Amino acid sequence: MAERRLGIIMNGVTGRMGTNQHLVRSILEIRNEGGLPLKDGTRVVPDPILVGRNEDKLRRLAQRYEVARWTTDLDGALADKKDEVFFDAASTQLRAGLVKKAIAAGKHVYVEKPTADTFEDAYEIYKLAEKAGIKHGVVQDKVYLPGLRKLKMLLEAGFFGRILSVRIDFGYWVFEGDLQPIQRPSWNYRKKDGGGLILDMIPHWQYVIGQTFGDIKSLVCHAVNDIPKRWDENGEAFAADTDDSAYAILQLANGITAQINFSWCVRVRRDDLVTFKVDGTKGSAVAGLHDCWTQANVNTPRPIWNPDARVNADYFADWQLMPDTQAFTNAFRIEWEMFIRHLFGEGEWRHGLLEGAKGLQLVEAAHRSNRERKWIDLEKLA
Ligand SMILES: NC(=O)c1ccc[n+]([C@@H]2O[C@H](COP(=O)([O-])OP(=O)(O)OC[C@H]3O[C@@H](n4cnc5c(N)ncnc54)[C@H](O)[C@@H]3O)[C@@H](O)[C@H]2O)c1
Repeated sequence: MAERRLGIIMNGVTGRMGTNQHLVRSILEIRNEGGLPLKDGTRVVPDPILVGRNEDKLRRLAQRYEVARWTTDLDGALADKKDEVFFDAASTQLRAGLVKKAIAAGKHVYVEKPTADTFEDAYEIYKLAEKAGIKHGVVQDKVYLPGLRKLKMLLEAGFFGRILSVRIDFGYWVFEGDLQPIQRPSWNYRKKDGGGLILDMIPHWQYVIGQTFGDIKSLVCHAVNDIPKRWDENGEAFAADTDDSAYAILQLANGITAQINFSWCVRVRRDDLVTFKVDGTKGSAVAGLHDCWTQANVNTPRPIWNPDARVNADYFADWQLMPDTQAFTNAFRIEWEMFIRHLFGEGEWRHGLLEGAKGLQLVEAAHRSNRERKWIDLEKLA
């Protein structure tokens, strides 16, 4: 069987997402299974080079996972013609500049979300990528989560009838870092380092809603900085000066209303850390990360409002759990496989940098709505 090596420069790979999702669960799994088969049987075998700032961390990561190549010299890596793809999972603020360099070096680019920290930069790198004729993409993993794939199947089956509304409820308690160590990187809570809940999460909501339910027409958003003091990885106190809770309402072009509550300052009492609830005329569903529960019109109980009587009803028991009818591959890996196929002209690809720019457009609309306390209409991007 023919093999085709694919050299991938993986920048920021010692970080949380870079190591766990992209290196270990995606690229190395594909490599260790002998590569990704193309239609003609050729196997594309990823050959990553790990790039970062800390030599010691890189060496240990490379040794642990038996990766032969690593370097702290990004420019040197970009200059090597044998490596065709630039991937970035470093912190957000550096991204647009790195992507420009990579495009100038003739690389195909695939990057974590958000693709930049401003819409202007996000749109510029999309234009540059198109002009250079390279293949480009942004990580939009959430649509490949098992829960959302089940939701998508309900949509395709016409389960909902006419969809009326969508409710996204996201969040969990992120420890402040004084009593217990933090469980997210501290830069997420510093404005100057590219932190903030809206910048982090709105890009996800944009593509989940846009690609599942329809184009977003306008939004109103209220954001709050609930916890102004946190402690970092070294136990040092710092001013947490970004939004860490937000509340948005969106109108879709097709008339659906979507509502999003998202926060790093809420304690979980729902089915999952994120839930997507859809209500339609013929049925409703709630998807979490893995599971999806449905209630069809004909299975809907008759609620009677009577606050004077205690009703010992288990409202959760009125929902039916959708079965796992297939093995679900890791969502990041699914998208990597699609991107690699796209590099070789195969399969569908709908996660280009224009989609990334749409995320930043919604981020800026949310900030503006919050600042000016009003609804913002979104222009359709060309
Ligand atoms: N798709 C998702 O679900 C998802 C989830 C979380 C984070 N992210 C995105 O992934 C990116 C990384 O987030 P994370 O949570 O892994 O953060 P992290 O802090 O764990 O990792 C960031 C990495 O960037 C590196 N880095 C920082 N400054 C650098 C510099 N000047 N030069 C080179 N490298 C530098 C760090 O050393 C680290 O390896 C962010 O853009 C974030 O928005 C995506």
